[in-house]
Amino acid sequence: MKVTKLICIFLIVFIYALTLSAQNLPINSDVENKIETLLHQMALAEKIGQLHQVSGITNEYRQQIREGKIGSLLNVRGAKTSNELQKIAVEQSRLKIPLIIGNDVIHGYRTIYPIPLAEAASWDPKLVEKTSAMAAKEAAASGTHWTFAPMVDIARDPRWGRIAEGSGEDHYLGSVLAAAKVRGFQGTDLKDPLTIVACPKHYVAYGAAQGGRDYNTVDIAINTLREIYLPSFKAAIDAGAGTIMSAFNEINGVPASANPFTLTQVLRNEWSFNGFVVSDWNSIGELLNHGIGATPADVGKKALLAGVDMDMMGFVYINNLADLVQQGQIEEKRIDEAVRRVLRIKFQLGLFDHPYVDPQLEDSLILHKNHLSLALESAQKSIVLLKNDKNLLPLSKNIKSVAVIGPLADSRYDPLGCWHCEGKAKDIVTVLEGIKTKISPEKVHYVKGCEINSQSTDGFSEAIQIANMADAVVVVVGESAAMSGEAASRASLDLPGNQMELVKAIFETRKPIVVVLMNGRPLSIPWIAEHIPVILETWFLGIQHGNAVADVLFGDVNPGGKLTVTFPRTVGQVPIYYNHKNTGRPPSDEKFTSKYMDVPFTPLYPFGYGLSLTKFKFSDLKVSTENTGQSTKINASVGVQNVGDRVGDEVVQLYVQDVVASMTRPVKELKRFQRITLKPSEKKRVEFQLDANELGFYNQNMEYIVEPGNFKIWIGPNSVEGLEGSFEITDVRRD
Ligand code: BGC
Repeated sequence: MKVTKLICIFLIVFIYALTLSAQNLPINSDVENKIETLLHQMALAEKIGQLHQVSGITNEYRQQIREGKIGSLLNVRGAKTSNELQKIAVEQSRLKIPLIIGNDVIHGYRTIYPIPLAEAASWDPKLVEKTSAMAAKEAAASGTHWTFAPMVDIARDPRWGRIAEGSGEDHYLGSVLAAAKVRGFQGTDLKDPLTIVACPKHYVAYGAAQGGRDYNTVDIAINTLREIYLPSFKAAIDAGAGTIMSAFNEINGVPASANPFTLTQVLRNEWSFNGFVVSDWNSIGELLNHGIGATPADVGKKALLAGVDMDMMGFVYINNLADLVQQGQIEEKRIDEAVRRVLRIKFQLGLFDHPYVDPQLEDSLILHKNHLSLALESAQKSIVLLKNDKNLLPLSKNIKSVAVIGPLADSRYDPLGCWHCEGKAKDIVTVLEGIKTKISPEKVHYVKGCEINSQSTDGFSEAIQIANMADAVVVVVGESAAMSGEAASRASLDLPGNQMELVKAIFETRKPIVVVLMNGRPLSIPWIAEHIPVILETWFLGIQHGNAVADVLFGDVNPGGKLTVTFPRTVGQVPIYYNHKNTGRPPSDEKFTSKYMDVPFTPLYPFGYGLSLTKFKFSDLKVSTENTGQSTKINASVGVQNVGDRVGDEVVQLYVQDVVASMTRPVKELKRFQRITLKPSEKKRVEFQLDANELGFYNQNMEYIVEPGNFKIWIGPNSVEGLEGSFEITDVRRD
């Protein structure tokens, strides 16, 4: 379709920012007046102190807090410590400005919930909001005011270790979950002493690192940036996130921590963000390595002018900003603006009125029983059943003997996953313990078999021996917690060490085998997928890992999680993601099409995929459009019935394709989803409504447009199956 023709018919151009309502934290004039009064009293050094954040505590830092030269700390935890440091700031410093203390409360504070990639597999925003709220309670009671979360980076490359920290490859799901987390952390009022301010990170496109290698270069089309990588940040800001963290990576030659386009044009001008931007750890200092400045002063100036307000552990602002002002290289009013933003959040948190926390409350909330039961629920809901041949699951609780094998079966540390804050190995229920509790310890025999990452086969024969004696074997293999997260990219997606050989050796016993995977990213496991009858993806599920796995193995819980990231057959297929473009030669069995010669073009497991112990039938797709006068709405519904014999959850997923457009469009895009629970035989009609404004994209002029025309729609259980329909958009109106 030609653009000119489209203009003649119904093309309407939208400025994306205008189509979405900005709901930043509200500005309160009383607070603004207080900020101005304070600003007038502040010396330049005290202003710069508000923009300086350091990690941990030393006597030198204590003195600097007293002198008003440190405004924020990270990595200090506990009510007692927080109160001690806050006392220095609010009782011994000249202007009595409280500290803001930040920590990486990523998936729990002390009660550790599933890693974000796992929890995303629950497709349950309410659950995610609840775990974030409970994490906030423990953290806030322990003197933390601010979390460096949610991590909302979209990740299409499973080699990237930080894929574990986010919601996976899809920006729509990522946006819904980003907003849910912000709501959970921040509650409805930041003044509530049990809430903390959120910090979506890492702004932006950190997940698009070339080759999945952490910190690597990002070279990205602006429309891809806007359509795929920015929306989850926008959703977090719209949900009210008070701060945002600038990333380590460069974007098309301009580092994210000195990028006026992303930090000022998009964030401030288009999204009207009124909170503050904190750098990532020394990401201002690292601008020297990026080579965009010769001295710390050069790079500090660039970061500040681009829009980074607070320097995390770079010591660039504290050491250089005053000179830069005195030399007339930056205006003091830019520093005032950054200070204003920081103070605004401190006021909004209520820190000026209530700087201290109650250590007794901390004691009563840490590992509270409600937190433990929520940790169990979220762990259960995050498990994805990848295969269940001949309904081998659930195992009978009357089984006489079970062999539990594998380096992760009794790991007390790894289920914590990366970034586990105050999480402790001693709080963990291992898979072995969970199974023993479920069916009685006497029936369970355990042999480690091998280490996670070694070549030794010394433990194999003992493992084979107990497998031979058992009625069923549970093999727990995967990655260590340290193999994902920051600086934990892998060039291979195979099981590390000789775990694959262990699985093959156990397979030779011909016993019924369940492979339980524990990992922070998709793994390439084609042999296991072909030969092993039952595969459970359990990620790192936090402190209730073992109980949740045992619940699923023995049928007390019917798994309903779905993958939020594509599982490749081999690392060579990466990047492989569901919402790819068609190309001029879509992959097929024909020779001259876009694929590899040595591997099927399909993934091992697609996005959205996951099985249940029951079966669901989708029927009777209905699609219609309606013009409300304001905009065009698309109503779509489908019947879903539980046709098996046990209660179960299905995640009903709605995908759309813009069939012909002036720019190439993805083959499918997730637009809605709903996790539902159905009893045996129960049937439900699941209804969705979309607004035509959500069906747009960025054109060559980088304007957000919605084009009239035909769309395909699918509603189904994953990104490759589902009932197909269509609709036409004939008119689009400004919202
Ligand atoms: C990470 C951030 C984290 C910060 C503070 C950095 O290395 O990239 O995600 O919030 O450290 O711990």
